[in-house]
Amino acid sequence: MAPANRGFLIRAVRHIAESGVRRFLDIGAGLPTQDNVHQVAQRVAPGSKVVYADNDPLVLVHAQALLAENRDTVAIEGDLHDPAAILKTAAAHLDFSRPVAIVVAAVFHFFPDDDEATSVVSTLRDALAPGGYLVISHGYIEPEAGEPDRMDEAKGVYRGSVTGSVAWRDRETVRGYFAGLELLEPGLVPAQEWRNDDPYPVPGLAKGGVLAGVGRKPETT
Ligand SMILES: C[S@@+](CC[C@H](N)C(=O)[O-])C[C@H]1O[C@@H](n2cnc3c(N)ncnc32)[C@H](O)[C@@H]1O
Repeated sequence: MAPANRGFLIRAVRHIAESGVRRFLDIGAGLPTQDNVHQVAQRVAPGSKVVYADNDPLVLVHAQALLAENRDTVAIEGDLHDPAAILKTAAAHLDFSRPVAIVVAAVFHFFPDDDEATSVVSTLRDALAPGGYLVISHGYIEPEAGEPDRMDEAKGVYRGSVTGSVAWRDRETVRGYFAGLELLEPGLVPAQEWRNDDPYPVPGLAKGGVLAGVGRKPETT
């Protein structure tokens, strides 16, 4: 699931940068890896501004060390349970009156409360200016095809970790997170299939895995 998610993130950020957006807010950014958002965006357009937010202090230490010499990129401490606070801190670095891409990759399944997840994502959508993007990936399972044993097993792994419980959601719920946005082609699909010229089979993910999509806030008329 991790490489499928990372591949999606790289292709989505590249597409958004190529379409002219120069500001990115990556919430729940995770430990720095290869091809982080700033590297992908700044490869397309040097000078692209990137703000990383995470609530894990260890992530911040690594991110701040990695970014020490990149003046267009900052890492901030932020808890997505308080999205308004993240947006406020990020606004010191990103002009939200211009199009910004908000990236929330593989984070919302750590929000087991459905109502809270819906409310948080709605706050993020509201912060987008016309032409802004929302990038989401989310652990999912096809309900009718369900493999409860494997999902229970996966939930058990997380239950024993610092992240606590997980909530895999179905397609319909995740599609709702893009309400009011234009969902870019090919829509909400398994992460490894999103604009991938060479979608590799991911063993065991035929009936679940990571769903991914990119929504764009329409221009006002
Ligand atoms: C599975 S990792 C995803 C990392 C990266 N976004 C990716 O897609 O490769 C989830 C990340 O979300 C962060 N996270 C979890 N809950 C969070 C919260 N409430 N606020 C901010 N970050 C959170 C974790 O610390 C972790 O770095």
